[in-house]
Amino acid sequence: MLVLLGLLFGGGSYWMFAVPDVGSREIPRTAAAIERGAYLVTAGGCVSCHAGQREGMEETLAGGLPLESDFGTFYAPNITPDPDTGIGNWTGNDFLLALKHGRTPSGSFYYPAFPYRAYSGLTDRDVLAMAAYLQSLEPVSNSVPEADTPAWLNRWAVAGWNKLADFRQPEQADFDDEQLARGAYLARNLGHCGECHTPRDSLGIPDLNREYAGATMGEDTIEAIDADALVDWSASAFDLFLLLGLKPNDEFVGGEMSDVIEHNTSLLTDEDRMALAIFFTRHNPPQ
Ligand code: HEC
Ligand code: HEC
Repeated sequence: MLVLLGLLFGGGSYWMFAVPDVGSREIPRTAAAIERGAYLVTAGGCVSCHAGQREGMEETLAGGLPLESDFGTFYAPNITPDPDTGIGNWTGNDFLLALKHGRTPSGSFYYPAFPYRAYSGLTDRDVLAMAAYLQSLEPVSNSVPEADTPAWLNRWAVAGWNKLADFRQPEQADFDDEQLARGAYLARNLGHCGECHTPRDSLGIPDLNREYAGATMGEDTIEAIDADALVDWSASAFDLFLLLGLKPNDEFVGGEMSDVIEHNTSLLTDEDRMALAIFFTRHNPPQ
């Protein structure tokens, strides 16, 4: 560990801070891309964090929601295409760098309150379709506050955090089965279920060796949804849960999960919902 920390904070600054090369990518401006992007933004749960908080902005993605954590308070930005306070001037590369690498257009770092590590597994095509959709929306002018973090935590420190998280990330096998692969993509990447359901270490790095084993968030305990926890759930029971929030014991889920159901999983296509259900109930043991 000491060797690793030495590597992180001693030499290797190019290795730590270099901006990844994502090529030179255009945002597709077709109606089909925008429509796909709209669906992906729903499946990605973006509205749960980016919905406008000011009066009259609730139906927009003008941002402002404060996300409290042990590491400070982070504010979801305005992701409407306002050129000054939103993402109106962003290029395809800016979107790829932000969503897949957690990098700002100026080369700095986003805080992981933005689930970019989950989104890093998205295809470029999906990210660019989301970009097309976001830039097709009505621009809303709304500035959100800068993150409020303890003095030791600034954006550049996130570089070290990312490298540590890379280092601890286990290899995850690809799935041969198309439906399982789609379910894994929806769960691990777009739907970022692990952001809440996977335990984290003291630095807030998700422990993917215990994927979906349950977690604590502030005072709240979040249930495990790994294979052990779901032994009594059939795929169709899970599918119904994703649609209605109704559990096999006939109780409705509450808390933040009801928001995930309302704004994300209940709006998925039948096919995608079933792929998620199959991923959670049939890929046993998790790999
Ligand atoms: C769990 C809450 C959360 C979810 C879900 C989320 N974001 Fe964010 N997002 C954030 C936060 C917080 C930031 C700012 C982080 C920071 O200040 O470093 C951010 C930053 C961004 C930025 C950078 C904006 C800028 O002005 O710099 C973009 C673009 C973005 N998110 C798009 C998305 C999209 C698209 C989705 C859905 C696929 C999404 N986000 C889902 C919380 C979230
Ligand atoms: C923003 C955090 C968050 C995200 C993202 C999230 N969940 Fe949850 N989930 C929760 C919380 C909190 C609960 C417990 C709710 C309660 O108290 O009833 C929960 C409960 C559940 C339950 C019920 C478990 C049980 O035994 O009662 C299931 C199943 C579930 N989530 C699946 C998912 C899936 C699948 C995804 C991804 C599509 C997901 N969750 C994404 C926070 C989240």
